[in-house]
Amino acid sequence: MSEIPTVDLEDIASTDPERNALAAEALRVGFGDYGLVYIRHHGVDTAQLERFYRTLTELFSRPEAEKREWARPDVWYQRGWTPPNTEQAVVAGGQPDFKECYFAAPMPLDPRCHLMFPEIYAENSWPAGADAWRDDYLALGQRVHAVGMQLLRACALALDLPAESFAAGTEGAPHVTRALRYLPLDASQVGTDILWGEEHTDFNLLTLLPGGQFFDPSGETCDRPDAESGLYLRTRPTEEHPRGRMVHGKPPAGCIVAQVGQQLEILTGGTYLATPHVIRAPKSPGYTRTALAHFIHLHSEQRLFPLEPFLTDDVIRAYGPPVLAGTYGLKTLVDIGLAPKVALEKLGYRHYDRLAAARA
Ligand SMILES: [Fe+2]
Repeated sequence: MSEIPTVDLEDIASTDPERNALAAEALRVGFGDYGLVYIRHHGVDTAQLERFYRTLTELFSRPEAEKREWARPDVWYQRGWTPPNTEQAVVAGGQPDFKECYFAAPMPLDPRCHLMFPEIYAENSWPAGADAWRDDYLALGQRVHAVGMQLLRACALALDLPAESFAAGTEGAPHVTRALRYLPLDASQVGTDILWGEEHTDFNLLTLLPGGQFFDPSGETCDRPDAESGLYLRTRPTEEHPRGRMVHGKPPAGCIVAQVGQQLEILTGGTYLATPHVIRAPKSPGYTRTALAHFIHLHSEQRLFPLEPFLTDDVIRAYGPPVLAGTYGLKTLVDIGLAPKVALEKLGYRHYDRLAAARA
């Protein structure tokens, strides 16, 4: 039995208050202590996901020159292919993750935000001749988005908040679905401090992880190559464990994962915990892993500050001053090395040059 709670979406949807209460308790413990829950009865089509991963592996095994054509440095890699060694975790001190990615937005985006944040609200772009893959990509993204929206409503109710407290601020937001491939280590890299993903917390509202797939050195699908590789999360620090505990995230068969991001931690004044997590690489060379992650965001014009019921002096000190979700996201993209520092010049008054011209 896993110590991380499993939430059954049928309990959430049930008209039986006892089943609703079960789900609420699982969400309070999961999101409160671990920042993560497993989800049963999520409706994600596993055959579609397997097909998607097979094509992803084929696309990512193409020559780098071809993949470069799908890369979008002009939109800070927020769409299309992200080459390895592009993004780094904020606390990693320059150690980039050992992965390559693809980004696409499966939901309609607010056109007004496109004017203010053209990179973050960019149109999707796709490899030529991969229409079936694109369709699977968008359908999977939309399905896990719907799961996430159900969870956002349930986890608001679990804290005695109105159901729409978190969900209402997500319409038209820059939700993005990321396809990833963690890269094979060679014999000299195995057992070093190279990680597939350095420890970090996600900067969005809620992340959905519909389950990854390992591939052996010959390219065949396989089970986890050793007991230690994969996702680890850091639990909330306690008196007994002041640095938290590292817990291996291994969803029960058929379950997917939902994870709290920084925005949900801020809105709840820390009641829900943005999970620090790390992806450990296998102990043998040549293995790869594909994964899909869907990031639900707050709309860029939403105020990012703890909601009224959570406001105490300590919470205000910890999470103030308020900022907008859009400017928060912009700052984060600079911090993780995807957006240039000059992007921050958007913040504050920008028209001294106009004044200078008028005075000339
Ligand atoms: Fe993450």
